[in-house]
Amino acid sequence: MTLYDLVAPGLDTVAEPRYRIAEIRAADPLGADALLAALPAMNRDADVAALTVALRALVPDLDRAAEWSVVEALAAMRDLGMLLGSLKRHGTEPVAAVPEVLPVLEELARRTDMVPRDTVHHYTTWNPIGPRQRMFTGHRMEAHLQEAVRMVFPSLVAALDTCTVLARLEPYDPGFALALDRTAQHVQAMVDSIDFTVTNVTPVFFARTLRSYFEEIDVAGRDYLGPAAAQVPLWLVDLTLWQCDRSNPAYDAFLEESVEYSLPSWRAFHAAHKGGISAVGKLSAALSWETVHRLPAPLIASARSLARVLRILKTFRARHIGIARKAYSDDLKLYEAGSGGAPIALLREVLDLTRDNETLVRRAVERPRTPAA
Ligand code: HEM
Repeated sequence: MTLYDLVAPGLDTVAEPRYRIAEIRAADPLGADALLAALPAMNRDADVAALTVALRALVPDLDRAAEWSVVEALAAMRDLGMLLGSLKRHGTEPVAAVPEVLPVLEELARRTDMVPRDTVHHYTTWNPIGPRQRMFTGHRMEAHLQEAVRMVFPSLVAALDTCTVLARLEPYDPGFALALDRTAQHVQAMVDSIDFTVTNVTPVFFARTLRSYFEEIDVAGRDYLGPAAAQVPLWLVDLTLWQCDRSNPAYDAFLEESVEYSLPSWRAFHAAHKGGISAVGKLSAALSWETVHRLPAPLIASARSLARVLRILKTFRARHIGIARKAYSDDLKLYEAGSGGAPIALLREVLDLTRDNETLVRRAVERPRTPAA
């Protein structure tokens, strides 16, 4: 049984091979275990020649790759990705250095219905734990950062389910508050994750050692971003709670780009919900109709539960921007933008939007109402 099964019981992990975490972690279709155990040493020595030979050695026959299951294809992309990111960190475009990897990346992308390179999910959730763990540096703090992202995956997948339920309900329905309370329990994992990160990963380690492994690479003339924590699907929760009917150019552009790096079912969720009415939108409309002194009890419960989830998101974002600001401060940063392609200014904007929505919902139920004439 995987952590995923424990957190999100009842979800069909058989139908969705990308949720078969234990199997993906166990898979080693390229026979890469020994070679990747030596990766931190190659990176420490900036040994581009050895990294190039290693990538070439791992590239499988296209016919073989075409026969793999989705589970095996995900594991193969994970392992090739470690070499792609390593070569780029040392200034070499990996696909230009080893052109035979290109058709394999394209085939794996087709088989898995994902981008033609590794994502944060390959690097964290689908990465084995223990002696087979794939790392760029082998440093304890790198393992901690991987763990921080790994710990939110099951909860966010579960949150997408509760958000799907929420999107079908109206705030007068008692199920609305219940779906929000469940979502709140799941997104609390984001706060735990950032607290764990602040305790265990220093901004200087991230900025000066790790960040360079997450650079974009050129695949057939297009740049693809590296594995970035920004790719975890918190934006799908935002979408249903407040974002789908509230446009903000910077966040909208970031979302459009992030969606591509997500799982097919999450892209479908995005397509289904974008342009819909958010929970905040539905609640605001319901409240504006209510002119009576006492609001109906389910509406008050819905507003309180919505404010509670938004507060948790706000807490995550306030703590997250603290560590992100330090890692991208003038004296530490090597890059202007995060590995997800966006600057710190975006984080500020998203934090402000989250806070505005929370304040709006909280005040709506606190505000004294005029009794009907
Ligand atoms: C040293 C640790 C970290 C730093 C320096 C950092 C930095 C950043 C930066 C600069 C962004 C802007 C977008 C981009 O990446 O281009 C971002 C976005 C984001 N990061 Fe992190 N991050 C860190 C850890 C984490 C962790 C542990 C998580 C949780 C899993 C996380 C989740 C997110 C999310 C969800 C976004 C999208 C924006 C949002 O929803 O507020 N980050 N991060």
